[in-house]
Amino acid sequence: MRTDPKRSPLTLALATTLLAVSVVAGAASSKAPIETQTTASPEPWERYGDWPGTDWKDFNTMRETRSPAVPKDFQRVYGRITDGDAERGKKIFGDRKKGGSCMTCHAVPGASLPGNVAPDLSTIGAQNRTDWYLYNYIYDARQFNPETMMPPWGTHGVLNDQEIRDLVAYLQTLKSPAKFSDLDDPNKRPLPQPTADYRDPTENPAMFELDAGKELFSKAGPNGKSCATCHKNPKSEFKTWAARMPYYEPRMKKVLNTEEFLTRHARATTGADWRMQTDENSALSIYVRHFAHGQPINIRYRTAQEKAAAEKGKELMNRKVGQLNFRCMDCHGQGADKWMRGQYVLGTKDQVGRHPYWRTSKGEVWTLRKRMQWCGVAVRANELLPDAPEYGYLEYYLTSLSNGKKIDGPGIGH
Ligand code: HEC
Ligand code: HEC
Ligand code: HEC
Repeated sequence: MRTDPKRSPLTLALATTLLAVSVVAGAASSKAPIETQTTASPEPWERYGDWPGTDWKDFNTMRETRSPAVPKDFQRVYGRITDGDAERGKKIFGDRKKGGSCMTCHAVPGASLPGNVAPDLSTIGAQNRTDWYLYNYIYDARQFNPETMMPPWGTHGVLNDQEIRDLVAYLQTLKSPAKFSDLDDPNKRPLPQPTADYRDPTENPAMFELDAGKELFSKAGPNGKSCATCHKNPKSEFKTWAARMPYYEPRMKKVLNTEEFLTRHARATTGADWRMQTDENSALSIYVRHFAHGQPINIRYRTAQEKAAAEKGKELMNRKVGQLNFRCMDCHGQGADKWMRGQYVLGTKDQVGRHPYWRTSKGEVWTLRKRMQWCGVAVRANELLPDAPEYGYLEYYLTSLSNGKKIDGPGIGH
């Protein structure tokens, strides 16, 4: 911001004191009026239309524990598997419908864009692995390695007995190192390029949302007031706000992020009902958050409740969910800075600043909340409602890992 030469030393001193007070107070918006009694999610909740519609009711979510246990005994497989079909096994190995395919993580000869978060299996058939071992490793790798990130294909019913036999037959045929083009080779593939200029609306349609949000800010709600009625100078009022979000809200005993705060604050002030994940809510979030562009993310846990909320977030980052049985940290920890199929997976730092952002692959704006829902659905776990406390804890902890990194939304991403 430009410094105003006309500003008197007194005003400056006053401003500094006010700033100090709000920093000590810590919480981002604890004095703001909010509606606390009803849900901030669209009702009734329906999963986004273009997402898979399956109900994975037999598997863990971020809230419920339902997945089958690790088997106590290995599957009985004696001697050589003679009824496996290597050709069929090869197809299953690359079949995206079978849990995203084994190539998400493993390279094999002929694979296109294989990942490298797991060992290259190109010579597995020359390594004296027994069929018993391969069968059981695929059936449930947790029996060999409790920390494995490989899904329990058999226990969780993704692959049936015959499909696993076919895979074993295929793997036993792999005896010589694969040769890849530089593009296919996950160890040589060029890293994703930095995204285009976020300010250019031809590159980043989320900039249109910024304009839409600006209009909503001055639009009168059912009770005649608009945001602008009370917030005359949003540029200075909201300069650091987004960098302190999400925050722990004692009045609700949960963490509120930008989108949920705006839903509840709008209801309490203008009477507008702009629920999370609606176009209005996302546009307003982009607008209010953009004032903090360039500000360092600054989440601090001070009170016992804030610390407990962050701790819950950390636990949830390590919770195994879905039919494919992943925790956030499998991909964003162990799998970070590596390729999962064609996607280069980021670590837990630097993940949040550009949200909500334009997803070029989807042609729409995504909030961080929607990304969390998707990172569940992608591993076949039922999502929770956008205003679920669990997502609040996750977002709180995850955002704090990026402390010091800059808010730079609305961004663009794949
Ligand atoms: C999410 C990543 C991921 C996917 C998807 C995956 N694996 Fe794995 N797999 C691993 C990792 C990581 C290891 C290394 C050992 C470990 O961590 O358990 C492994 C190990 C193995 C091993 C043991 C290798 C050895 O040298 O002993 C076999 C066999 C195997 N995977 C087969 C498969 C098959 C078949 C599929 C598809 C049905 C598959 N994997 C899909 C991550 C994955
Ligand atoms: C009736 C007056 C009123 C209206 C209308 C109103 N607000 Fe607020 N807003 C407040 C008050 C009071 C606070 C608390 C300020 C404080 O903590 O000092 C607040 C706080 C905020 C904050 C947090 C700022 C911070 O630094 O803590 C944001 C963001 C915000 N409002 C956005 C909006 C938006 C967007 C709208 C329109 C949907 C809106 N407000 C409508 C009165 C209002
Ligand atoms: C199966 C692997 C996998 C799991 C499990 C997973 N993610 Fe992701 N996640 C990805 C991939 C791939 C991307 C897109 C590439 C990237 O940005 O890292 C992504 C992107 C993200 C992003 C957006 C980063 C950005 O810059 O836009 C966030 C935030 C995120 N994940 C959070 C989570 C959280 C929280 C969990 C646990 C609830 C989780 N992920 C679980 C694979 C995973």
